Amino acid sequence: LSEKDFAGKKILVTAGPTREYLDPIRFLSNKSSGKMGYALARTAARRGAEVTLLSGPVNLTPPYGVETIFIESASQLAEEVKLHSQNYDIVIMAAAVADFRPADYQKEKIKKGKQFDNFKLNMMRNSDILEGIGRHKKKRQILVGFAAESEDLLNNARDKMEKKNLDMIVANDIAGFTSDQNSVTIITKKYAKDIPLMKKTEIAGIIFDGISELLK
Ligand code: PMT
Repeated sequence: LSEKDFAGKKILVTAGPTREYLDPIRFLSNKSSGKMGYALARTAARRGAEVTLLSGPVNLTPPYGVETIFIESASQLAEEVKLHSQNYDIVIMAAAVADFRPADYQKEKIKKGKQFDNFKLNMMRNSDILEGIGRHKKKRQILVGFAAESEDLLNNARDKMEKKNLDMIVANDIAGFTSDQNSVTIITKKYAKDIPLMKKTEIAGIIFDGISELLK
């Protein structure tokens, strides 16, 4: 794309999984590869935006011309988002953020003593980052979320859009994790548009076409 329709816009994108550590070497995570978020960041930069990418641990090369900051846990991501989000015209949360973390982080490697024949892990809730941004949304700021669901996709996505005060939500089945392609439904207050299976790079283009409309 040669059109620089996002020139002058500052865009924050999050991508990839988070890691929630039990001890220094063990963590809980998910199957997000970061491909969707990286495609969005790359597309935004190509279309002229100044882009910051907050990335979980992934095996991808940071997109050219994009300031990329790496995080591991949901709490670290929340900190970075807090530092950045107010300065951006558009915030897109494609990261697969863990909803829970181990309640008692162990500073030393957990040993498999007798007491662990039946190991139970206590989990506590992570804060919802996107809901926090939605609560403090600036005038004219555009907030885009993703919804990954394994059932009742569209209703759950619409509920999330409402609850988190979003301008757009991209609903996808959990089958969208990891692969190069995805099929999604782009939902705004005005429409729900089904995007058939295609490359995540192409989906990124369609998402920015939709955001461009919202900015008008
Ligand atoms: O990385 P890939 O392999 O390319 O896969 C892409 C993807 C499937 C991960 C992506 O398309 C996607 O759906 N990302 C969001 C996954 C997710 O966490 O969905 P959710 O329905 O649990 O969360 C809803 C929204 O709230 C998301 O925008 C999420 O970033 C955000 N969230 C969730 C939990 C939390 N504690 N804080 C958040 O901000």
